[in-house]
Amino acid sequence: MASITLSKLNKHYGALHHAVKDVDLTIADREFVALVGPSGCGKSTTLRMIAGLEDISSGEIRIGERVVNHLPPRDRDVAMVFQNYALYQHMSVYDNLAFGLRNKRVAEREIKAAIDRAAEILGLHDLLKRKPRQLSGGQQQRVALGRCIVRNPLVFLFDEPLSNLDAKLRAQMRGEIKRLHAQLPTTSVFVTHDQVEAMTLGDRVVVMRDGSVQQVGTPLAVYAKPVNRFVAGFIGAPAMNFLDATVSAVGSALHVTAPGLDLAVGEERARGLTPWRGRRLVLGIRPEHLALGDGGPLGRTFDAKVEVVEQLGSEMLLEVRVGRARLTVARVAAEAQVAPGDQVRLFVPSGRLHFFDPESEAAF
Ligand SMILES: Nc1ncnc2c1ncn2[C@@H]1O[C@H](COP(=O)(O)OP(=O)(O)O)[C@@H](O)[C@H]1O
Ligand SMILES: [Mg+2]
Repeated sequence: MASITLSKLNKHYGALHHAVKDVDLTIADREFVALVGPSGCGKSTTLRMIAGLEDISSGEIRIGERVVNHLPPRDRDVAMVFQNYALYQHMSVYDNLAFGLRNKRVAEREIKAAIDRAAEILGLHDLLKRKPRQLSGGQQQRVALGRCIVRNPLVFLFDEPLSNLDAKLRAQMRGEIKRLHAQLPTTSVFVTHDQVEAMTLGDRVVVMRDGSVQQVGTPLAVYAKPVNRFVAGFIGAPAMNFLDATVSAVGSALHVTAPGLDLAVGEERARGLTPWRGRRLVLGIRPEHLALGDGGPLGRTFDAKVEVVEQLGSEMLLEVRVGRARLTVARVAAEAQVAPGDQVRLFVPSGRLHFFDPESEAAF
């Protein structure tokens, strides 16, 4: 078992491309960390540097107490699962699982024991004699996981291993990886562009953008207190609504206003807002925090015009217009009587308002 420490880690591709920028990150022994961000933000490069498949430009990588900066991949004791399963097509599943251990000249008896254990965990026993092409995508991915398990490494690295699977299988494999980690708590780094995957799998989530780490936290912390507008918009689906708004004082209370919208800000959110009186900011409201009706004493209400209704069966999504802004409203009861063109009253609890500096995009 081992922790992973990245200190001031950088990767330059040539003179112009700075793909990973001063990444500092400590992953605890047995922790499962999900690295998430849009395509091209440097996730794979970071993972490949941990694996030793990519040279680092500067900084330090430690696995446990050992600095591994210049160690070749085979000496780092890490196992990596890729998007394409990279199985040997001409070998049986058993031989695929055995391959790495045979290379290390492990005794066949020990290999069989390791494969039995992996097959048990992943439900592969009935597949051991088959060739990869006789397996479904999900089964092949399970074999690729099995190949990592039998090596019993210090660290598991995953690079978008579920991206080639259809939605249903992806959800199922997500569950299997979670179960696998509960049974074999190995320090793991899981790279994905899919925020749902990151949120459901990670003990902690690391959000990256343009080579830099934006925020590190538990899924709930990153969702509830995003540090900036980018994280706020990236984490959560449907995405957070953003409106240009102004802060004004009405008597002793602070209000956030925009065309068609005037929300009194409750005590719990007013503190950081005082310096913003008379200034513009960006207001963020998550679609799932908007609801139809008045919402009682904590509700802050406004009127909106329904433009689009998306019926999902279990609930509805609405696209509504408020002044010049378009907002998404989620979690409306599927049976609600709402149609395009309707005027509706919406409420949001004051504690659910997010504020962002329009220039720096930092949350406050
Ligand atoms: N071998 C390479 N040579 C030059 N640029 C690269 C190379 N590999 C990746 N990049 C660039 O580095 C950036 C980060 O890539 P990558 O780590 O693959 O992103 P992600 O996995 O988040 O999609 C991208 O802009 C990509 O084009
Ligand atoms: Mg990638």
